[in-house]
Amino acid sequence: MEKSYWNSRWHKGKIGFHSSQADDALISWWPKISEGIDANVLVPLCGKSPDLHFLAGLGHGVIGVEFIRQACAEFFEEADIEPEIRQKGRIEIFESDPYKILCGDWFHISKKHTGNAKLLYDRAALVALPPEDRKTYMQHSLSVMPETCSMLIVTFEYDQNVMSGPPFSVPPAEVMEGYGSAAEVELLETKDLIHDYEKFRNKGLDRFLKHVFWVRR
Ligand SMILES: C[S@@+](CC[C@H](N)C(=O)[O-])C[C@H]1O[C@@H](n2cnc3c(N)ncnc32)[C@H](O)[C@@H]1O
Repeated sequence: MEKSYWNSRWHKGKIGFHSSQADDALISWWPKISEGIDANVLVPLCGKSPDLHFLAGLGHGVIGVEFIRQACAEFFEEADIEPEIRQKGRIEIFESDPYKILCGDWFHISKKHTGNAKLLYDRAALVALPPEDRKTYMQHSLSVMPETCSMLIVTFEYDQNVMSGPPFSVPPAEVMEGYGSAAEVELLETKDLIHDYEKFRNKGLDRFLKHVFWVRR
């Protein structure tokens, strides 16, 4: 999606993806995927998610990436934290230990920004992207992470003929294909959330699956 699309959503407060609580898959699965790894966590397309606070609460340094400045600023404002803000090339960095939010395009981020992150958490990031960008997104995720890394990835799957994204439908086969040539991919859990989403039922969906993957190499 164009940056203007997300800018307009943030500007109008149309951020239905934003939850006031940490994601239940993160809470359930993070201990497994991060076991024995004392490292920073990279969170692509992070919005102003409370998941960042959950991860920081576990002792991780948290590096979020988000290209809408309003979201970056609100993350700190709502936590009553005044970050140091500086420009580095195309990226504006909002920083207050243990948080570093890189305000810029995910596809402009390189290893020099993500340094010692060995963990990655993706909620509503891969599914925020249209089909034509998702392969590049997955390759990019692998390219900014070190050789040994562990990632928790959450996707949704539903009938894309009935509803358009975002969130887009990203079935397990696409995640297996996107990450599988360079990493081990394990489907940890699938839950049908259709009963939690009246708005999706009203659109005609009878199934809305949430998949949780562990990608490691
Ligand atoms: C569906 S929201 C999810 C936000 C967050 N992960 C959450 O769970 O609340 C996707 C976010 O990605 C941001 N975004 C989309 N494309 C991006 C890109 N190429 N680079 C950085 N941020 C991007 C949008 O502005 C939006 O805040």
